[in-house]
Amino acid sequence: MASEKSKIIVDNKEIDLPLIRGTMGLPAIDIRTLNQKGMYTFDPGYLSTASCSSAITYVDGENGELLYRGYPIEQLSEKCDFLDVSYLLFNGELPTDIEKQNYRKSINGHTLIHDQLNSVYRGFRRDSHPMAVMIGVVASMSAFYTDKMDMNNPDHRKLSAMRLLAKLPTIGSWSYTYSLGLPSVYPQNDLGYAGNFLNMMFSSPNKKYQNNPILTRALEKILILHADHEQNASTSTVRLVGSSGANPYACIASGIASLWGPAHGGANEATLKMLAEIGNEDRIGEYIKRAKDKDDDFRLMGFGHRIYRNKDPRAEIMKITCHEVLNELNLSNEPLFRLALTLEKIALEDKYFIEKKLYPNVDFYSGIVMRALGIPNSMFTAVFAIARTAGWVSHWNEMLSDKENKIGRPRQVYTGLAKRNIKPF
Ligand code: SDX
Repeated sequence: MASEKSKIIVDNKEIDLPLIRGTMGLPAIDIRTLNQKGMYTFDPGYLSTASCSSAITYVDGENGELLYRGYPIEQLSEKCDFLDVSYLLFNGELPTDIEKQNYRKSINGHTLIHDQLNSVYRGFRRDSHPMAVMIGVVASMSAFYTDKMDMNNPDHRKLSAMRLLAKLPTIGSWSYTYSLGLPSVYPQNDLGYAGNFLNMMFSSPNKKYQNNPILTRALEKILILHADHEQNASTSTVRLVGSSGANPYACIASGIASLWGPAHGGANEATLKMLAEIGNEDRIGEYIKRAKDKDDDFRLMGFGHRIYRNKDPRAEIMKITCHEVLNELNLSNEPLFRLALTLEKIALEDKYFIEKKLYPNVDFYSGIVMRALGIPNSMFTAVFAIARTAGWVSHWNEMLSDKENKIGRPRQVYTGLAKRNIKPF
């Protein structure tokens, strides 16, 4: 990274700090030595703080651009499948035909999970949220895949990444069939990544799931769109947990936990719930009003983003995919989709949303598409987690490959009581 000089003045003292620039994006003041000068910076929520350098994904919030290893998301979602994209994120380049064949073979070799992991499911109530079950089962992998755990060994890291990428669709779909009291369906490696997941979700011993290529392609696109997004909350969680050298399965389980929140990956499920609660177009005004009311903690789910200030490119692609899927299923008058289109139109014309630069994000339409594919609301964030595992393992690997990597340990501004003594009793 190129380095220039910057200067800050504190208590009339000038402090020189390097100014670093990446290949794209805003410059950053390198404050690593600031504590030696007797002060910290304060930035809860990391609004203006780069926690690391990374070459994986670039998000341009002003222009609504998303690049995975330099490739625009629009091209990747059109021309690639999810395995290509997961390979690109981890290795830095799209696979050649030979590399893809070998990669697919490795992934296919890991799609089954240890038979005893089945008993972890049994510990959960049937009505447990699939995300709770996935956190438990993925974390339990730490107790079953204990070989090749040297985090400084790139081959060991690659093996753990493969295992996670290959097993998450199995673990996620089994969380769903378990909730229905149905037998788990084993992976069929010849169906491709998205097709295999849909088959494990919806086929059963007495009923074969009929793969529809348009629906399978739609799910491939959903997985690609959700695969990575630089230092979002769940990826930052994985990096922080991984910085202590923790077991990769524990790291990814922590990412799933963070993604579950309704402000993050849980927003797709919350958006569907909100649309169902609004019910019809006459009630949209009431909810827009609530979203603007400071005394009401209601937020328009699927709207707003920390970085995108005019459009989330993924939401645009998702909206088109939504049309394609609903047309294929003769559902283009699907009431929730019509309601979402009207809600988006009204919100985008409202002064409050314009001033605060609030636009539909990736979660606004994804739930409608997934519901049309037959995926229940409770599984939307589970699908997000399966996709984001590609980004999580890539960032985890990039961090551990960085010789300058240190354990993450933020400081604080202490606002508690000054030192005091316990009064004699
Ligand atoms: C994802 O980080 C990533 O990259 C995430 C993600 C990824 O791929 O990993 O893109 C995936 O998480 C997408 C976001 C999904 N979440 C939602 O749709 C939930 C609803 N959105 C909000 O909760 C919110 O917009 C966030 C959490 C997404 C962003 O929050 P910020 O950046 O912390 O913004 P903020 O809360 O400071 O809001 C700024 C202002 C506030 O008003 P003021 O206090 O300035 O008066 O905008 C308002 C907020 O009240 N606001 C909203 C709103 N989002 C922000 N008001 C109504 N409805 C909303 N949705």
